[in-house]
Amino acid sequence: MVQILNKIDDVLHCPRCDLKLSRTNVVVGSGPINAKIMLIGEAPGKNEDKQGQPFVGAAGRNLNELLEEAGIDRKDVYITNIVKCRPPENRPPFDYEVEACHPYLQKQIEVIGPKGIVLLGKTAAETMLGRKVEMGKEHGTVVEKDGHRYLITYHPAAMIYKRTLKDTLVEDYKKISALLAE
Ligand code: URA
Ligand code: SF4
Repeated sequence: MVQILNKIDDVLHCPRCDLKLSRTNVVVGSGPINAKIMLIGEAPGKNEDKQGQPFVGAAGRNLNELLEEAGIDRKDVYITNIVKCRPPENRPPFDYEVEACHPYLQKQIEVIGPKGIVLLGKTAAETMLGRKVEMGKEHGTVVEKDGHRYLITYHPAAMIYKRTLKDTLVEDYKKISALLAE
């Protein structure tokens, strides 16, 4: 994937927004290039920035747990984020950073051609759907837009602060297989 993105730009040395100033590593994504399911989070955190891999910290452990409960092998899904560099203090990315980074994500979606895309949290959902999303009302729903099928769900970090959300999240994740249906 890095090689493919390098063809459109040198993503690992990307200068397109100010997040370049605080990053250690650009976190492009992980998973097979022919994955049927793609998961999109918000932005790398501290551990991700250090290791150059998405969802390897506390949120990643939650994600692993949720995928396992839904019977999905993490090795089979492609995981990435809305922005590829860590924002300072883990603040949500600014609109101009999201915009600057978006061509990379578009290219990833185009190359992988997933059957379904899981939007992990508000930033991913609002960016990809181009509108406000009220997570409490819309989580667990599948939305079609521009020829893609999106499943909306909470960000797995939400579970860190509110453990009772886990059951809700597991139910959402069980719908991932519905994304694969024609
Ligand atoms: N949170 C995200 O949104 N993405 C990661 O890769 C890690 C934590
Ligand atoms: Fe480039 Fe995206 Fe990193 Fe900004 S967040 S520097 S656009 S890779």
